[in-house]
Amino acid sequence: MARPALTTAVGSMSDVPQDLLAQIKKLEEIFSVDKAKLKEITAHFVKELEKGNVEGGSIPMNPTWVMGYPDGNETGTYLALDMGGTNLRVCEVILSETRGEYDIIQSKYRMPEDLKTGESDDMWEYIADCIQQFIEYHHEVEDLEKIDKIPIGFTFSFPATQDYIDHGILQRWTKGFDIKGVEGKDVVPLFEAALAKRKLPVKLSALINDTTGTLIASSYTDPTMKIGCIFGTGTNAAYMENCGSVPKIAEHNLPADMPIAINCEYGAFDNEHKVLPRTQYDVIVDDDSPRPGQQAFEKMIAGLYLGELFRLVLVDIHDNKNCSFFAGQDISKLRKAYTLDASFLSDIETDPFENLQETGDMLKQELGITATKPELELCRRLAELIGTRSARLSACGPAAICTKKDIKTCHVGADGSVFNKYPHFKARGAVALREILDWTEPKDPISIVGAEDGSGVGAALIAALTIKRIKAGNLAGIKNKNGLA
Ligand code: BGC
Repeated sequence: MARPALTTAVGSMSDVPQDLLAQIKKLEEIFSVDKAKLKEITAHFVKELEKGNVEGGSIPMNPTWVMGYPDGNETGTYLALDMGGTNLRVCEVILSETRGEYDIIQSKYRMPEDLKTGESDDMWEYIADCIQQFIEYHHEVEDLEKIDKIPIGFTFSFPATQDYIDHGILQRWTKGFDIKGVEGKDVVPLFEAALAKRKLPVKLSALINDTTGTLIASSYTDPTMKIGCIFGTGTNAAYMENCGSVPKIAEHNLPADMPIAINCEYGAFDNEHKVLPRTQYDVIVDDDSPRPGQQAFEKMIAGLYLGELFRLVLVDIHDNKNCSFFAGQDISKLRKAYTLDASFLSDIETDPFENLQETGDMLKQELGITATKPELELCRRLAELIGTRSARLSACGPAAICTKKDIKTCHVGADGSVFNKYPHFKARGAVALREILDWTEPKDPISIVGAEDGSGVGAALIAALTIKRIKAGNLAGIKNKNGLA
């Protein structure tokens, strides 16, 4: 079967002047990641994943205390709170008697930008307000007085050290969040205090990462799912490990074959800059971020950074005295950091017109720049290069987990705005996976497919699994041994 064309060859760029062609060539050199490099990155990735399960290295490999998959007999009503990206979401999930079936109602609340870098109390207040609004909207006040506390699964999509499933010390903020006084603290009491202040009939049952939720929700409907991935504002994956292969939890004396979900937090892969092909633009993104030196892998591929990388390149070419690019144009809007997001690149990549008319209109409307056709060609090629690099590097994560676990065939459940919305991301990632794992067969043995709703259904399932474990007396990694109301 013919493969879809995933890029435009520079050769087809007629009428592009020499100085811009030279720039495009340079960009192609620095942003392309060939097969050999992908393999080298993956091989190093495997070693780092292994290191993290022992102690050390930069990938945290956080044990989540999610001990195995749902068996389909999970039932009941749960709340789920999802915090960790652009929006805050509250859901009520009813797991039905029939395996894999559920009802869900949900509300989304925009996470105000200033909260992401504000005060801790303001953030917890805002979260509790959203939960309160949700409950009051969906339940009668009289009913609320009668109901028991509803268990809530809190999807907190940041690296957290968990000694228990209902506990989590924030290791560090990622994705541009920078709220004072939370790093190094257990976020559960902070969350619970805000709930208690409003006397909300809610009780935290589990603190969950979005990747773990994705893994559990996806395996609920597809038992061949072995990895849960997020390719969105940030990037990361979770998979099921045997306790015996995680030396850092040996002190708990758990059966060696007992499964435990590991939240890799592999956005931190190669913080030491040993193998990733960083460009001068990646260095600036990192230096200017609230946490320089952290999340090296994530900063090259995740949605939060794609628009910024694109912007930095355009500004650099404009300022280059040896070429004429956006000459005579006022680029003051373009000079503003994070003024473009990944959807700007997606829109460029999906511009259907030969003359790149939509791209031209966007540059005019959003940045006040009137671009020539060759300048538009450069923008288009740059978007392709950044988008393709993101997809190809993204494939290294699941490839490394499968190599480490010797998984020859499986589904990988993926979620996130980049995976779901960025043009060609899936196809480009699949090509890279084939290159890394040297497949020749017509059907890919490992495929990255759309996941079920991890931070809604997944969080509810994990809350249900936790309550079931408490009832069965399997208390590994559970602090609140009395269970729930
Ligand atoms: C966070 C992870 C999360 C990922 C995707 C990263 O920045 O550290 O916990 O899973 O983003 O949301």
